[in-house]
Amino acid sequence: MNDMTPTREQRTAALEGLGCKRKRVEDIRFTQGKGNYVDDVKLPGMLHGDFVRSPHAHARVKSIDDSEALKVPGVLAVITAETLKTVNLAWMPTLAGDVQMVLADGKVLFQNQEVAFVVATDRYAADDGINKVKVEYEPLPPLIDPFKAMDADAPVLREDLAGKTTGAHGPRKHHNHIFEWTVGDKELTDAAFKKAEVTIKEMISYHRTHPSPLETCQCVCSFDKIKGELTIWGTFQAPHVIRTVVALIAKLPEQKIHVISPDIGGGFGNKVGAYPGYICAAVASIVTGKPVKWVEDRIENLTATSFARDYHMTTEIAATKEGKVTGLRVHVLADHGAFDACADPSKWPAGFFNIVTGSYDFPTAHLAVDGIYTNKAPGGVAYRCSFRVTEAAYCIERAMDILAQKLGMDPAELRLKNFIRPEQFPYHSALGWEYDSGDYGTAMRKAMETVKYAELRKEQEALRAAFKRGETREIMGIGVSFFTEIVGAGPSKNCDILGIAMFDSCEIRMHPTGAGIARMGTKSQGQGHETTWAQIIATEIGIPADNIMVEEGNTDTAPYGLGTYGSRSTPVAGAAIAMAARKIKAKAQMIAAYKLEVHEDDLEWDIDGFRVKGLPEKFMSMKDICWAAYNSVPPGMEPGLEAVSYYDPPNMTYPFGAYICVMTIDVDTGVYKVRRFYALDDCGTRINPMIIEGQVHGGLTEAFAIAMGQEIRYDAEGNVVTGSFMDFFMPTAVETPHWETDFTVTPSPHHPIGAKGVGESPNVGGVPAFSNAVNDAFSFLGSTHIQMPHDFWRNWLAAKNLGVFE
Ligand code: CDP
Repeated sequence: MNDMTPTREQRTAALEGLGCKRKRVEDIRFTQGKGNYVDDVKLPGMLHGDFVRSPHAHARVKSIDDSEALKVPGVLAVITAETLKTVNLAWMPTLAGDVQMVLADGKVLFQNQEVAFVVATDRYAADDGINKVKVEYEPLPPLIDPFKAMDADAPVLREDLAGKTTGAHGPRKHHNHIFEWTVGDKELTDAAFKKAEVTIKEMISYHRTHPSPLETCQCVCSFDKIKGELTIWGTFQAPHVIRTVVALIAKLPEQKIHVISPDIGGGFGNKVGAYPGYICAAVASIVTGKPVKWVEDRIENLTATSFARDYHMTTEIAATKEGKVTGLRVHVLADHGAFDACADPSKWPAGFFNIVTGSYDFPTAHLAVDGIYTNKAPGGVAYRCSFRVTEAAYCIERAMDILAQKLGMDPAELRLKNFIRPEQFPYHSALGWEYDSGDYGTAMRKAMETVKYAELRKEQEALRAAFKRGETREIMGIGVSFFTEIVGAGPSKNCDILGIAMFDSCEIRMHPTGAGIARMGTKSQGQGHETTWAQIIATEIGIPADNIMVEEGNTDTAPYGLGTYGSRSTPVAGAAIAMAARKIKAKAQMIAAYKLEVHEDDLEWDIDGFRVKGLPEKFMSMKDICWAAYNSVPPGMEPGLEAVSYYDPPNMTYPFGAYICVMTIDVDTGVYKVRRFYALDDCGTRINPMIIEGQVHGGLTEAFAIAMGQEIRYDAEGNVVTGSFMDFFMPTAVETPHWETDFTVTPSPHHPIGAKGVGESPNVGGVPAFSNAVNDAFSFLGSTHIQMPHDFWRNWLAAKNLGVFE
């Protein structure tokens, strides 16, 4: 070894593999304005489509007159449900087993529902055309309050379902009922409540909100009449699923459909489903023979594409007087809007809400969810969370605080007393999940020590005393939240979308010079996959991450995958990447053995190549093996070095974390100040700590937005009153608190590299931390639970209702 020989540390660092804070490679183009988004797609002769939308939440459509619209210069066509009926596309199937109108068919069921699609030579002409389409409506009574949906005299919303007593998920109890989903042991749970020394019961609502990505939903559809091929550029989080859905509903051969997701400006679940805009643009392109672009504006995005949450959770806990939980009972009223278009795996009508036992060792639990129709936009997407997991975490984390308050116990102490213990993993929860790994006590104690929890409680006590003496108008809340997520949908035994198992995939091709390209079934919307996927490969096969190009989003080239949402990319595709890389390595080992003239078993892996055991000077680097793969493979072996893996995970992964929020509130104005926010995450093996930190910052900011103000609110007539960023809270750098991040590492035992997902964790843990801080602040004034969102006005109102002032 001479002075120039790199050390082991230098060779490892040169790979920029697992654990490296590698800078995001995609940012080179993003920060220079060189990203390529759907709206950048401009094709010769391209037309533009835009929607006529309903001003009513519930009305009969008596007539649509397009004669004046067709006179507008540039307007070429007006598509209505009648047009779509000629190609059997007036209604489309939803991911949840329901059907949904593409364009209003006789009725509208929510404000801003798509009524007609105007196609024109440019966007302005399309907009002028919209204003000239005359639609005659007969208003019907709107149903907005979910608690009135199943009243005997509630208006009938879905006339198409008349007489149907069974839906996709079993019997329907009422004309506005979609499904009832029950899990757990009712008898045992009821018995636990009968025996309980202490019980709590609270209706905890998680209000309707919206993912509102920076880039709205959009597509360009281009039908080639000669080849009979349809190319769709779209903001799709799951491009392969879109291709299959189009093949099924448009009856086009799947090989003739090309779906391309270019760069995406945020998804957060909003871009998983199929929207009327996609169908109408495709039909318009097939009819006109020209490419057709459809781009939503902000108001359309907020009011008509998939919402999130809207769960009303009546929650009960049974416990001993020492604070040991003995039972959990939850009933959820799930407001799904006008159509059941929830984006959940097929068998899970309420997603993975049955993770609601959280991080606690509940001996028994029972959950019942009733899905109902109202006159609101359809959807129910996993907005920065795995399917309905943030609702579940909010439900249990608020309920644990309410129980602590009733017992007169510290909420952190109550949690520590009830955590699933490390030796209980793999842990079978009362509602049916098998948690893979966790060390909750260590994480909680680390969080408490870092923020000096005991001192904070003393400070709070002193401030409360001062408040009671009339010396201050400020109150202080300490919000504790401990969450367990369930991510990585998912194992084919329990997860599919439209019958397609939720595996994911990776194909790696190594080139002769020691570089390569890797393609996956996932699609980054800003998560940095181009950076981190290459890091997994770098560590697995000893080729620098910089030499691996990552490509996602083109269904013609990428292997079939189920896409990116619900933190599934790392648990599922991340595993596929490691497995494909291991196939490459296995072939590389055979080539190295042949070249080094030893048996394969005599080789050992050493960072970036194979070494002969006991003969350290006999070494062949992976780079050299790549070259050899193209000119001197062992006799009988095929040349080349590539591999593909389709990975069906054996289980989900269960990331967890401990979050603490310290907040002060001025009772006279309701103005709050987040003094401190500490977030400890455990996502198992950490691929890129810098990207994880970025994910946590983003997720916490969205959690802050949701908990403290962001809401899709309707008035009694069904008008959306928060339909623009004037009213829908979108925090900027001015409002956003400072985030402190931390971690522990508890690898997943079944994931090839031990990684769990992280993208959604901060939203799941963040929302209850904020809400618990607000509720904790008010608790000494006699309040038990204040509903979110906790904006200034609601804080002021809470103070008023608690008699703090006249
Ligand atoms: O599915 P999605 O990409 O939204 O979520 P994810 O799997 O949690 O990954 C988000 C980003 O964090 C990706 O770039 C991952 O590679 C990265 N990550 C990581 O560096 N280490 C982990 N243990 C988990 C995710």
